[in-house]
Parts: sequence; C-alpha cells; structure tokens
Amino acid sequence: MILADLAVAGISELATPEGRTARTGADLGRIRTIRDAAVACRGGSIVFVGTERDFRQAVEMEPGSRTLDARAGTVLPGFVDAHTHLPFAGWRESEFDERLRGATYSEIAARGGGILSTVAATRAAAPENLRRLVRARLDAVLALGTTTIEAKSGYGLSLEAELKQLESLREGASGHPVEVVPTFLGAHAVPAEHRDDRSRYVRLLVEEMLPEVAQRGLAEYADAFVDAHAFSLDEARAVLLAARERGLGVRVHADQLAADGAAELAAELGAASADHLEYVSDAGIEALARAGTCGVLLPAATFFLMQDRRPPGRRLVDGGVPVVAATDFNPGSCPTESMSAVLWFACLTARLGVDEAITATTLNAAHSLGRADRIGSLEPGKRADLVIHAVPNRYHVVYRFGVPRVRTVIAGGRVVVDDGQLLHHSA
Ligand code: NIG
Ligand code: FE
Repeated sequence: MILADLAVAGISELATPEGRTARTGADLGRIRTIRDAAVACRGGSIVFVGTERDFRQAVEMEPGSRTLDARAGTVLPGFVDAHTHLPFAGWRESEFDERLRGATYSEIAARGGGILSTVAATRAAAPENLRRLVRARLDAVLALGTTTIEAKSGYGLSLEAELKQLESLREGASGHPVEVVPTFLGAHAVPAEHRDDRSRYVRLLVEEMLPEVAQRGLAEYADAFVDAHAFSLDEARAVLLAARERGLGVRVHADQLAADGAAELAAELGAASADHLEYVSDAGIEALARAGTCGVLLPAATFFLMQDRRPPGRRLVDGGVPVVAATDFNPGSCPTESMSAVLWFACLTARLGVDEAITATTLNAAHSLGRADRIGSLEPGKRADLVIHAVPNRYHVVYRFGVPRVRTVIAGGRVVVDDGQLLHHSA
C-alpha cells in the first residue's frame, strides 16, 4: 500500500505533462489525461496519480488525513509563472488611457514615462510597503492557481534601490506557499541620472550592482531588456556575461518591439530563456532551438500593448524551441497576474493548442526556471502543487474564457485555497 496524508478524489479529469525536462515540437502537446482520477500526497510530495478505482486499491490514508472531493472538477499542475516584475510600487493607469488615445508604449518611454515612472514610485516606497505589496500579490496569484513565480527587480536602477526591491521580495516571500524565483533586472532601463553617460551605468551594473546582488544571494537569474529605449546588444552582453561569471542564470527581454537580434544573443549566452519574441527572426528561432534556450511567450502583454504582431507561438513550436507562456505581470505592459488569462491568450492569439498551453505554463515553465525535476507536472516524487478548476475538463478552462475557474489550490501538499478562499494567513 502507498501511504498518503492528503488526497483528492472525485476528479472528472486530471491533465498533466510528464517528465523532468521541457517538451518540444509534437511532444509539447502530449500530455497525460485521466478520467475519474485521484491524486495523493505525503510529506508535501505526490505519491499517487491514477484512476480513482486504482487509488482505492493502492492508497492507504493515514489516520486523521483528509481526502478532498474535487466535485467533478479538473485537476492541473499548479501554474508556474516564469516571467513577472512583481515587486513594484505604483500603477500606470493614466499611461494606459494615453495609449488608448493613440500614444505608443515607446513614445511614452522616450519622454521618460513608462518604466521610469515606476522606478520613481518604487524608489520612493518604504521597504515595509514593498514587502506588504509583495505579500499581497503572492496571495493574489496563489488564489489564481500559481504555485511558483519568477519575479524581477528592475524598478530600482541604483544599487540601493535594486537591493531594496530584492530584499523586500525575499522578505515578503519568506514562508509564503508560493515559491519565488528572484531575478536581477538592473538592465531594465537607463535611469535619468545616467542618461548623459550610458557606459557609466553599464559599468555600475557590472562592477558594483551585480557583484553585490550575487554576493548577497539575492537573485538566481539576471535579465536585460534589449531595446532601442533600453540596452543595446553589446551593453546587454556585457551585463549578462558578468552575471554568468557570478554564477547567475541568464534571461533576456528579446525582440519585443523590433527585431533586435536579442534571441540570438540569448542563445549565444546559453540563456535559460528569451522572452517576448514578437519580432524574433527565423535565425533567432533556429539559434534558440540549437541552444535549448526556452522561448517565453507573454501573450497577455502583446495583447495589452495592442501590438500588430501576434506572439509567435506556432513558429517557436515548429522550430523546436521549448515554449513557455507567462504573464509578464507589471504596471506598464501587463497589469494582470492571471495565468488562466495566459492560457486563453496562449491559445487564442499565440495559437497553441490547449494541451500545448498547459505544458507551456507548467512543465516547460518549470524547466526554464531550472526546476523541472521538482515541479511542473503531477507525478510521484514531485512537489504536490495542484489546482482544482471548477470545470468538467481541461478544454473548458480555455473555452469558457474570461473567468478564472480556480476553486482549490494545494501547494507543497497543503490545501492553501479552498472554495476560492485563501486559507493561509499572511503575517
Ligand atoms: O516585459 N519590456 C520591458 N519590460 C516590461 C515592461 C515593464 C514596464 O512597462 O514597466 C515588459 O514588458
Ligand atoms: Fe517583462
């Protein structure tokens, strides 16, 4: 008998990718589905996934343990959101309104708005305020079914303010059921005080900020925004090479607003991911596939910026790139933290199939964060992160778009959201 301390039965359909590495090409959409399923966990890990009938025969529940009734819902792995800018202060709804009247994201950035207005608000925020914001947002994403989240700095852009952002992130996340993967994005924009000498800011990044962030263990990854209003290929290369030397993994904001050759740079650096990619070239796709660098679609951001380009979902899949889909949660280009929304856009605009989109938001996302051996799928041995969606099968999660259907969330083998209510209480 398999011993368990928590189980979910009464599952109409369970759907999960399988494996400990990213799926590509035709395998992206090959997932395991089980009707009338059950799943059991013990000590925070999954110990059984199968039919309810097999569960009754194979699993013994420990005394005092709980078997949840999924009430004919659908169980998917917890979402892994592999790209967010979570620890920011201030929103930018007035820029949104300007964009609706015809201003573009780049025009707003060029006149010192955009990222730099969030930098001003974040610099002004007290650390405990940032910490509270982080905590509240982690609660919000948990209720939406996200159990692991990447979170970038990049709204400090000085040594002191970047450290404040990353430390607030760490403290806000401490003990929270959502696992946070921190990324240093000092190369997000050139701050106003360095506009007259960009190379001075790049030197500051390489010689002071990166070493301090790495030495304090505040980030697992470094990221750089390659764009006409942000950093050139050479500037980004210098920063990301320095990050690599300090033992950080590399991610790149690549080819979002123009074909900058940034996907090629990501591949050259052996980056974990190249993100956005609306304008990626065919050569860029080939390079990503060859390097095994994940292509992270941020289709809710593409939509929110009203870009003419569609996210290149099919091109990436057909090109053999490990495809991920994430929110890009931030106050400028994607103010939603909903991974259900990412599934809708991944299918309806990036043109992934439902099963492909499930893999892209779970197992492949976990792979891009170096965690596919531990999370991202429902298999014995993996961390028990799973979500009950209040729909009869996985198609309904996308098909009935516009409303997240998350009912219950289990993170690390604990029921943390039930009937839409958060059960853990933030300190
Ligand atoms: O991923 N493109 C650069 N950075 C973010 C937007 C950040 C912001 O507008 O505040 C993005 O879209
Ligand atoms: Fe981003």
